[in-house]
Amino acid sequence: MQGLSLIHRAAEIIRQGGVVAFPTETVYGLGADAFNPLAVARIFEIKDRPYFDPLIVHISDFEEMAELAVGIPPDAEKLIQRCWPGPLTIVLLKKEAVPDLVTAGLPTVAIRMPKHPVALQLIREAGCPVAAPSANPFGYVSPTTADHVREQLEDRGDLILDGGPCEVGLESTIISFSKEKPRLLRPGGLPLEEIETIIGKVETNPVGETAPSSPGRLPRHYAPRTPILIDRWKGDLEAYRDKRVGLLAFREPRVVSLPFDHVEVLSPGGDLREAASNLFAAIRRLDALDLEMILAEAVPEAGLGRAIMDRLRRASKRTGSR
Ligand code: TXA
Ligand code: MG
Repeated sequence: MQGLSLIHRAAEIIRQGGVVAFPTETVYGLGADAFNPLAVARIFEIKDRPYFDPLIVHISDFEEMAELAVGIPPDAEKLIQRCWPGPLTIVLLKKEAVPDLVTAGLPTVAIRMPKHPVALQLIREAGCPVAAPSANPFGYVSPTTADHVREQLEDRGDLILDGGPCEVGLESTIISFSKEKPRLLRPGGLPLEEIETIIGKVETNPVGETAPSSPGRLPRHYAPRTPILIDRWKGDLEAYRDKRVGLLAFREPRVVSLPFDHVEVLSPGGDLREAASNLFAAIRRLDALDLEMILAEAVPEAGLGRAIMDRLRRASKRTGSR
């Protein structure tokens, strides 16, 4: 856990318009004062993030909602009461004072109260809502440890707070209330099933379809350099005998003599929560090995499995754009 004095310093940096990487229960974020457009602009520069991709605003206190959102529909209110702090982001119509840079000019703002004690303390002490995307270069896998942030962003931010590995390991679930019916914009760390027990049916896009209103849903996102193949390799393992390939397994593999140069097991016992928390670190380790290909195993598409499969599919999309 982070020393209190470092959190003080980080809060001061944010108050003065700086940029700080900090732990949340989902992934590490790269934060700045949401009401300081110059500070927010630096986040985009550091991440090499396109300005059309809006940021999530993080709060530590329910009262901060009044500065950000115009009104809160009853279902949104229910979710906020039951699921915050936690891995859930809510999209609502924004107050005019929220800078356009934060929302990419959209009439809506995405808000979340993270569950990590370091994040909550930081936001509280900074005394302002903190706009923060995941602390990775745009398009790459989100960081789940402070070392991941250090490796990728080096010293481009002003400070990195280390809160240990992220417990959830997947980004927050995003639900939009900008239209009449609640809509899932991104599956994530809070299973859709849990949300639907609270507010009933939520609209979703068919698998694979992307919502242009949420660029985190770009088909190729969260992507490592090494090509990833999901399940399609299973019938023909011999074809990979002479190649340098790694296995990203969901559970402990049953077969021992496999042609893999490296094996990552997400959860030996097949637990989706454990698999989610290990996913991004495992992809990073495989990506660092200069393999020709990562052969990944699909996980059951329920609960957190929905978000795991969403990230795997996006990571496996080849566009040749990188
Ligand atoms: O768990 C998380 O959500 C992490 C931690 C740091 O809180 N943050 C995160 O941020 O994943 P980022 O920037 O990597 O992803 C935020 C997503 C993007 O896909 C963005 O397009 C979407 O949220 N988003 C933000 N504001 C939005 C809005 N007003 N309407 C629709 N989508 C929005
Ligand atoms: Mg991100």
